[in-house]
Amino acid sequence: MSIVIENMTKSFGGTSVLRGIDLTVDSGELVALLGPSGSGKTTLLKIIAGLEWPNAGGLVVNGSDWLGLAAQDRRIGFVFQHYALFPHMSVRDNIAFGLTVRPRVERPGKAVIAARVDELLQFLQIAHLADRFPGQLSGGQRQRVALGRALAIEPTVLLLDEPFGALDAAVRRDLRAWLRRVHEETGSTTIFVTHDQEEAFELADRVVVMGDGRIEQIGDADQIHDHPATPFVARFMGATIELPVQMHSGRAEASGLDTSRLPRRALPDGPATLFLRPTEIVPVADPGGRWQVVRCASNGAVLRIELSDDAATVHVDLPRRAPEAQGLAVGTRANLRPEAGAIFSDRRAPVPVQSRQQEFPRKEKSL
Ligand SMILES: Nc1ncnc2c1ncn2[C@@H]1O[C@H](COP(=O)(O)OP(=O)(O)O)[C@@H](O)[C@H]1O
Ligand SMILES: [Mg+2]
Repeated sequence: MSIVIENMTKSFGGTSVLRGIDLTVDSGELVALLGPSGSGKTTLLKIIAGLEWPNAGGLVVNGSDWLGLAAQDRRIGFVFQHYALFPHMSVRDNIAFGLTVRPRVERPGKAVIAARVDELLQFLQIAHLADRFPGQLSGGQRQRVALGRALAIEPTVLLLDEPFGALDAAVRRDLRAWLRRVHEETGSTTIFVTHDQEEAFELADRVVVMGDGRIEQIGDADQIHDHPATPFVARFMGATIELPVQMHSGRAEASGLDTSRLPRRALPDGPATLFLRPTEIVPVADPGGRWQVVRCASNGAVLRIELSDDAATVHVDLPRRAPEAQGLAVGTRANLRPEAGAIFSDRRAPVPVQSRQQEFPRKEKSL
């Protein structure tokens, strides 16, 4: 099932939460929505699920207009961060639930439901938990059951909203690998929401970076890591250092900065900002250098070096055994040599022409 989202717009009161989202998810694809809290991820999922209605925009799934469909007619599998399993029902009954509440004409027979649940229990590696109750499960086990419940109805689309968010790191890693296998074998079209970069990049075919109701960038891990499309993405991807530079024939220039390792950029001459991660800079000792080492701390593997000039402080991370790390004692003067980095012109980008927005009346929710 392909999902086509066009110019999706949503505000609550006067606050814009989605500011024109355009996104196509291919059939069988696993896409991650990655963004900080409040960027509109959950709102977008709820609109796809029919739990929330947009102010404008289009939502077409496999060629049919979903904004005209009530939530129950969309057949969505949804797993939330805190998924409420029915506490008084066994794991088996929880998973069967979505099938047992189908209208009589569509409801499979008892034996068919039991077989389907057995199959899912095996497939999801939770057969040993079948007769337990949710209160007898760990957090990770509960989320496996929640996914089983979402998959039981053979959903058109699977929506996962930070499903592992409440679990500790080791359990999350296990579940990630498990979910990736489940996805590959079911081939379901899946949207996975997370604010965790590692989770997004490890799981997804494509990652959609969201910030403040907009899509900032769509790409794979390497593209987003190496070529952030906007200052927002650069910061979100760990660029904590921002240095003013002047662009000159595609080169970034500033005193105390050796930018010879950076490729030329197609940017206009004039002021720009260089965004760097602490691991992307080498301090080069120079008695006339602009920066001075003011602190040097080792955690065994990495040397964290703090350098200051009159105006700014930068933190640089070097492998402790790197040749460049030798001789950078406190007091040493140095210049900085970025090995990589993103540059954005400070000249205002042209304001994009607003594309046409289709208005339509709000539909009543019927759940
Ligand atoms: N029902 C609602 N009423 C008012 N504001 C809401 C509602 N739902 C979400 N918001 C606001 O919309 C913004 C985006 O929320 P959300 O979609 O939950 O973001 P995310 O899932 O990325 O954290 C937040 O500022 C949130 O406070
Ligand atoms: Mg959310």
